[in-house]
Amino acid sequence: MSQLDPPNANAEVSALLEENRIFHCSNEFKSHAVVKNADIYQSARENRENFWAECANKLEWFQKWNKVLEWKPPYAKWFIGGKLNASYNCLDRHIKAPLRNKAALIWEGEPGDQRTLTYWDLYREVNKLANAIKSLGVKKGDRVAIYMPMIPEAVIAMLACARIGAIHTVVFGGFSAEALKDRILDAQANLLITADGGYRRGNVIALKNTANNALKDCPCIKNVIVVKRTNTNVDFQPGRDHWYHEITKSVADYCEPEPMDSEDILYILYTSGTTGKPKGVIHTTGGYMTAVTLTTHWVFDLKPEDVFWCTADVGWVTGHSYIVYGPLSNGATQVIYEGSPDWPERNRFWKIIAKYGVSIFYTAPTAIRAFMKWGTDWPEGCDLSSLRLLGSVGEPINPEAWIWYHKYIGREKCPVVDTWWQTETGSILIAPLPALIGQKPGSATKPLPGIEAKILTENGTEIKEGGGYLALTSPWPSMLRGIYGDAQRFEETYWNKWPNGIYFTGDGAKLDADGYFWLLGRVDDVINVAGHRIGTMEIESALVDHPAVAEAAVVGIADEIKGQAIAAFVTLKEGNTSDKKMEDTLKQHVVEKIGSIARPSKILFTADLPKTRSGKIMRRLLRDVGEGRALGDVTTLADSSVVETLKKKYEKET
Ligand code: PRX
Repeated sequence: MSQLDPPNANAEVSALLEENRIFHCSNEFKSHAVVKNADIYQSARENRENFWAECANKLEWFQKWNKVLEWKPPYAKWFIGGKLNASYNCLDRHIKAPLRNKAALIWEGEPGDQRTLTYWDLYREVNKLANAIKSLGVKKGDRVAIYMPMIPEAVIAMLACARIGAIHTVVFGGFSAEALKDRILDAQANLLITADGGYRRGNVIALKNTANNALKDCPCIKNVIVVKRTNTNVDFQPGRDHWYHEITKSVADYCEPEPMDSEDILYILYTSGTTGKPKGVIHTTGGYMTAVTLTTHWVFDLKPEDVFWCTADVGWVTGHSYIVYGPLSNGATQVIYEGSPDWPERNRFWKIIAKYGVSIFYTAPTAIRAFMKWGTDWPEGCDLSSLRLLGSVGEPINPEAWIWYHKYIGREKCPVVDTWWQTETGSILIAPLPALIGQKPGSATKPLPGIEAKILTENGTEIKEGGGYLALTSPWPSMLRGIYGDAQRFEETYWNKWPNGIYFTGDGAKLDADGYFWLLGRVDDVINVAGHRIGTMEIESALVDHPAVAEAAVVGIADEIKGQAIAAFVTLKEGNTSDKKMEDTLKQHVVEKIGSIARPSKILFTADLPKTRSGKIMRRLLRDVGEGRALGDVTTLADSSVVETLKKKYEKET
């Protein structure tokens, strides 16, 4: 973890940090908590399968499973023989109960427009879209790509797919045409659901136009459903493209939910890895629904009267698990916001919390660090007294940011749950149960009941206290079931580091004397920029795709707000000029290939890259250069002058 200098950490925050305090919830919180009895850790450890079976029982199954787990490492099957439907568990279950008229989604658009959908409203919309999708010939097992702004239809689209057994693959709306195309082609999706546009920082993000560019090379897409959100002009291809409001008008109001096998695929979600090509992480139905339902309830201490707000985008796993499937299967009321936290002013989030009485707020450290920088006047000007629990996700939270969040947003009354997990894990695995585990700022605390995590050395020896690799040593229900179309990559990436079905997370972590886990960031060629995971190879591939570039190496360097920022070292082909114009051209090229999240913050041109004698680029040294540190060991370099020259050049230019 980069021990970042906190932006604007004031003396009070520093003093609290000095105390080395463990933060416990109040007695009041504890007496009403969802989980109060610490025995649950022990009983889950003693009979893990039984624990998970009891959790699965909280869902409604069309047919009960006959075996809890089959584990043939690295392949797991959970709740074998069971049949259920995710959309049924998020909707039908509730409309038969008093929840029928409870608000499911309270949505606010960036321009200030609002919509509230009750469970009944959401149920109707999902049924209609499910029928519309069916009318286009989409069947169980087909893949449907979803490329949407943060509007209720994004949630509706996911649930409609789940209802008919189609596998959704949501592509974050900030990704470029090229990135969308790659994902559509890999999944061989036959339907795309998108919108004309969405709003972000006062601008229209023209999703349909971007999608049109992607679709030029996607013959597998037979139909496109387009939500009218921004009313902007879009090119429509007759026969292929359909307006959402028209296609859902004349269909029946009810669509029978498809009974899905527990191990049928619910969705594929692409995430970055250590190669240039993103991987399609597979999640199935029964185990995933079990774990997201449980963790939403327990970690967030969710009660019927809560107003839950997870600020993630549905394009990321956090949106899948903690906007769609977890909260809705629990019958929660939640807020969804379309736009940026600083639009039109830097208090937009705090105004939303005050306006809707948000009681549980779940966001990313990068956002918290930006709030710190913007200063306490913004939150102090809003009534945040409805908040009772805060969450953090996506990257290590530095202790200063934790304390600031606790003090200025939580008013020292709210437990802060730092939740560690990944796209691959499907649900939160390491986090405090807020009434049972005291929080240490900067630590995700301990594995949840039913989860077994350890710190291992390179050769698999367990470290009881100290740093190493974070490993998951027994299977859990929401674990990924594979990488779409690439079993070999699945085995090599996660399961070949150690024998006997031990999962390699790609994260470094340390364990302290109290058994608390401290996450230290990625140990592979994956970087985490503002909570978004990006592979350095992906950016390098995008750079070398430009005709002027001969070679490129990308590293993550510490950044005050984003956690990590992207620094690219580029060697140009002869005849090209390394000037500001070229720098801007290359940055733009990366944006077009991947999306603005991958835009390098720095590009440094260099005649040579530091390499070992066998030709391997020494990224560690590039990180030293990028972060302005003294150079580490250079003895393995083929030519040690390369890195010295680079360092001098870098210091001169920055
Ligand atoms: O490095 C860890 C970091 O984010 C990675 C997973 O990224 P992604 O699959 O995009 O999922 C993000 C949302 C779950 C992890 O390997 N990470 C996530 N949460 C934390 C974290 N690092 C430290 N503390 C966390 N709470």
